[in-house]
Amino acid sequence: MQVCIAGTGSYLPERILTNAELAERVETSDEWIVTRTGIRERRIAAEGQCTSDMATEAAKKALEQAGLAAEDVELIIVATITPDTLTPATACYVQKNLGALGAVAFDISAACSGFLYAMKISKRMISSGAFKNALIIGAEKLSAVTNWEDRTTCVLFGDGAGAAVLRAAEPEEGSILATEMGTDGNLTHLLNIPGGGTACPITSENVGENLFALTMMGKEVFKHAVTRMKEAAEKVIERAGLQPQDIACVIPHQANLRIIDAIADRLAVPNERVFVNLDKYGNTSAAAVAIALDEANRSGAFKRGDNIVLVVFGAGLTWAAAAVRW
Ligand code: ACO
Repeated sequence: MQVCIAGTGSYLPERILTNAELAERVETSDEWIVTRTGIRERRIAAEGQCTSDMATEAAKKALEQAGLAAEDVELIIVATITPDTLTPATACYVQKNLGALGAVAFDISAACSGFLYAMKISKRMISSGAFKNALIIGAEKLSAVTNWEDRTTCVLFGDGAGAAVLRAAEPEEGSILATEMGTDGNLTHLLNIPGGGTACPITSENVGENLFALTMMGKEVFKHAVTRMKEAAEKVIERAGLQPQDIACVIPHQANLRIIDAIADRLAVPNERVFVNLDKYGNTSAAAVAIALDEANRSGAFKRGDNIVLVVFGAGLTWAAAAVRW
């Protein structure tokens, strides 16, 4: 059974945080941030606005575009590293908010790769006949786990959510042609939030020590990102039987423009066919590729029948890719 993407949606908080504002907080500059990353501004969720609130807004738009009523949703997967609570899953809050009480709901944690992990899992769940449809969401409130005094990370991240509805494809519709995912647990130390889990529980002694913020060895992560994203994208392109010239749009993880340019170059896809919105939103982890997919879809970056390639990379280390005929 073929599985298609029937609708997409996204949500970005209203508050814009510019590079100039960050330069007032830490020793950095708009010039450094733009040259090294391509990021100009990012969105920051309001106080009290949770990951599930943003996920719900993105989900509503995806359901509307797919023409699927909330009560008919069978599966909800939220990919996030910034859940509302450690338990229950953020997907449970989203289910309640939407009134999708017929759905099975759970989270997955695969950092920036989570949305494409969710795509592969739900594609298999639908093609096996176990579920008729799935609502997959990448949502993050990274501002809640950012060390605002660490210039090497605080300039990179933002908040937001993106969603997609998957269902069995009709014969004349496009489908998800190929998917790939991978993990290298030897490299957990390159990118993590050290505190808050069982390895380093929250105590009154360590609460002020910034153990609950993202830390990253950026240069190392950069090298792995380029290699793994290139390999993953090549695999799905080959399995889908495509050539670079057959690809209308590449939608990569939105972490760094230099990483995106390196991948476009290695895949021999011209830059104008690579979708970029990190200048507006920064790196929103699991939400990034989902937001980019929705913006590309709604802005006409590709049309029915076009081939697109999504490719991501994140903490774990994890990576994933998908080739989709729209
Ligand atoms: N402003 C000014 N200077 C800075 C800043 C800043 N915001 N941050 C770092 N610097 C300085 C450093 O201290 C260093 O100074 P030094 O040479 O005197 O030591 C210099 O700039 C160069 O720093 P690098 O870390 O070497 O800079 P680099 O060019 O590697 O860029 C960056 C850093 C943007 C983090 C890059 O390495 C990157 O994008 N890495 C990959 C990120 C990624 O893809 N993450 C994956 C997903 S994230 C997730 O899963 C949640």
